[in-house]
Amino acid sequence: MQQFQHTQITLARPDDWHLHLRDDAALTYTVAWTATQFARAIVMPNLKPPVVNTAQALEYRHRILTARPKGSSFQPLMTLYLTDTTLPAEIERAKASGAVHAVKLYPAGATTNSASGVTDLDRAYPVFEAMQQHGMPLLIHGEVTDPEVDVFDREAVFIERHLLRIRHDFPALKIVLEHITTAQAASFVREQAAVDARGTPLLAATITAHHLLYSRNAMFSGGMRPHYYCLPVLKRERHRLALVAAATSGDARFFLGTDSAPHARALKEAACGCAGCLTAPHALELYAQAFEQAGALDRLEAFASHFGADFYGLPRNPGQITLRRVPQCIPEHLPYVGGDIVPLDAGQTLAWSLVA
Ligand code: NCD
Ligand code: ZN
Repeated sequence: MQQFQHTQITLARPDDWHLHLRDDAALTYTVAWTATQFARAIVMPNLKPPVVNTAQALEYRHRILTARPKGSSFQPLMTLYLTDTTLPAEIERAKASGAVHAVKLYPAGATTNSASGVTDLDRAYPVFEAMQQHGMPLLIHGEVTDPEVDVFDREAVFIERHLLRIRHDFPALKIVLEHITTAQAASFVREQAAVDARGTPLLAATITAHHLLYSRNAMFSGGMRPHYYCLPVLKRERHRLALVAAATSGDARFFLGTDSAPHARALKEAACGCAGCLTAPHALELYAQAFEQAGALDRLEAFASHFGADFYGLPRNPGQITLRRVPQCIPEHLPYVGGDIVPLDAGQTLAWSLVA
């Protein structure tokens, strides 16, 4: 049976709930890419040095706002980087600022710029207590750093070794398991039915476009493909299918977070290349492709524009965006600090285009 083919889709203006904007000169590029596609974004704090307190977050926010293209109303939602020395009082300051919306937990050494991350979860318990009390969400990079654990198993082992315990010990803490990549993570999130006083879930997950579109085969098709290397690393096809099922299920615990993580071409195409995929410039078109392949375009709006805002207790955006079925070729490279940068799927043709 021939499926009806939409020629355009209109969505409430979406948000990106997990984004790396970097800093300084990079902001000219990164803020413009995201402001074209999204109204708001949760901005990751893994700068060098990381954003560890409210004062730094407010300064960083100011630099982002200054870098916006003329006329843009894009709103960065700031986060703090949890360290072994973060104090509970910082959570109170963060909450009172109105500009800091979450705290990010990177297990030390798990990913790019995570050297200052948490070495021992027990040390973070007083901070988790304060977050639970103030309704400040904890965003988790859910991978163990134990070198004995296979890199493809690190997310599943993190859930068993750490997340179960955090969930148990802080039952009212709002948690986002970021950029999930496995069937185990999707099931874990689905099994957690607890909601807060407003009826919103206490545990949710973001899902990237690249984890919906690709299995780990993409990293090795015909040679090493560094632009498909990110953390958590792409997994087997059965995991990709589990993520697609979760994202397109209409379950409010799964929402959009690109994890667009720009690194200049020279830092990716190297003997020890950086982890991170650049998806921000074509994010919605990539998600549309993934949802259409799953026959679930009608579920894209809630995933991209409703569930994240609801989870964070923020209003859904006014206004709409339109995607048209007009093919566009993703450029081979884009200008960026340090020369140029290669977007995900460079040189390939997307079925959809965002109407400017
Ligand atoms: C991110 C980065 O480059 O900052 N890299 C990545 O592969 N996703 C860090 C992260 O989110 O893990
Ligand atoms: Zn990230």
